[in-house]
Amino acid sequence: MTVNRLSLIVAALVVAVAAGIAASMFVGQGRSALSGRVPIGGDFALTDHTGARVGEASFRGRLMLVYFGYTWCPDVCPTELQVIGAALDLIGEDASEVAALFITVDPERDTWQVLADYVPHFHERLIALTGTPRDIAAAASAYRVYYAKADAGDGAYLVDHTSLVYLMDRDGAYLRHFTGAATAEEIAAAVREAL
Ligand code: NI
Repeated sequence: MTVNRLSLIVAALVVAVAAGIAASMFVGQGRSALSGRVPIGGDFALTDHTGARVGEASFRGRLMLVYFGYTWCPDVCPTELQVIGAALDLIGEDASEVAALFITVDPERDTWQVLADYVPHFHERLIALTGTPRDIAAAASAYRVYYAKADAGDGAYLVDHTSLVYLMDRDGAYLRHFTGAATAEEIAAAVREAL
């Protein structure tokens, strides 16, 4: 077993544990009786893959699918982005009412120019976001997303991260989330229901 392979397995385990913690948080917190909002999501100040500054308000009025990952991710992120892209295809013309956001957890390597080369491979509607490490940390914290660098040897690194797709309503409020087990059909059906 190579170090690379071992670190992938460790990364998968970390993500699985993080997903479990996230899931238990959902159960534990439930919907706040006062506000009716699950405390997931919130404003962010980032740069999209065209170089434009954006915040949550930029996407108000549209549903949001929000996924955190990074372009160097060997398999989990590309797979999930393919699923999101397929879901957008299934949604068809109504996909114009959905902002599908891919927020990097690796801002040092994922400049907006790198993201501009990467996301069109998955779907023309995907919007990739990056920012300063501090702004990325704030966005990840708002979405309860865990991420951490993992040494991959020879000075290289991977980034362990929570791999959940969040569906947010037109006001940016949390509706539900999907794990990696969700199919494009399931995500598309949930988005359609929320349109
Ligand atoms: Ni990934």
